[in-house]
Amino acid sequence: MSDRHQRAGLGRRLYDATWGRVFAAGYDRFMADTERAGMAERRRGLIAGARGRTVELGAGTGLNLGHYPDTVGELILTEPFPPMAKRLREKAGARATVVEATADDLPLADGSADTVVCTLVLCTVDDLPATLAEVARVLAPGGRLLFLEHVRSDDPRTARWQDRLERPWRLFAHGCRCNRDTLAAIAGSPLEVESVEHGSIPNSPAITRPLIAGSAALPARS
Ligand SMILES: C[S@@+](CC[C@H](N)C(=O)[O-])C[C@H]1O[C@@H](n2cnc3c(N)ncnc32)[C@H](O)[C@@H]1O
Repeated sequence: MSDRHQRAGLGRRLYDATWGRVFAAGYDRFMADTERAGMAERRRGLIAGARGRTVELGAGTGLNLGHYPDTVGELILTEPFPPMAKRLREKAGARATVVEATADDLPLADGSADTVVCTLVLCTVDDLPATLAEVARVLAPGGRLLFLEHVRSDDPRTARWQDRLERPWRLFAHGCRCNRDTLAAIAGSPLEVESVEHGSIPNSPAITRPLIAGSAALPARS
């Protein structure tokens, strides 16, 4: 490994061990006003569509946990960052299995999930096309990705600010990219977008306000 890569790896570990831990510890408090102002209702509406064996990506501290309906059989919550995963385990108890894994490398068999859920995660994954390919791999034909994500703005002025502030925001928000065109990435993946609603995240800075909520299906084999 080169010196440059070693230094980058060390910097990442230091960042995770300091600010990453603070971010995980403060996440629920940081989100509280947003959740009360409508985000929790958005989560509930999205997750009502989950059924069967359900896998959540980057489940964080478990803000979706209370919203899963009885139509969900087995619930698997994935989360790669140990300080988040610890909180998730405490909250999930026996309700779900928690697996420490990144979304682009899920320890799940091909075609083994009926539903994949992601909320405020596709902004943060390192490799979005690889993540969406992995979602398509683990979904059974006809299975669904349910997404609730903040995205790049359609308004050019806001999008310019998202580009300008991408780096400082990413440092503050533990890897979140505020300028990602996530809907275009889903549309360009093996999944077919079935429905999408555009909205905004309440009580959030303008650069993270534009929101999409919807579903994309893995086409059933003909
Ligand atoms: C903004 S938080 C969202 C947490 C939760 N999904 C929610 O709706 O509140 C982003 C989450 O993505 C996780 N994450 C970061 N990189 C990831 C990756 N490569 N694969 C899966 N999750 C990742 C983070 O650890 C964090 O828990």
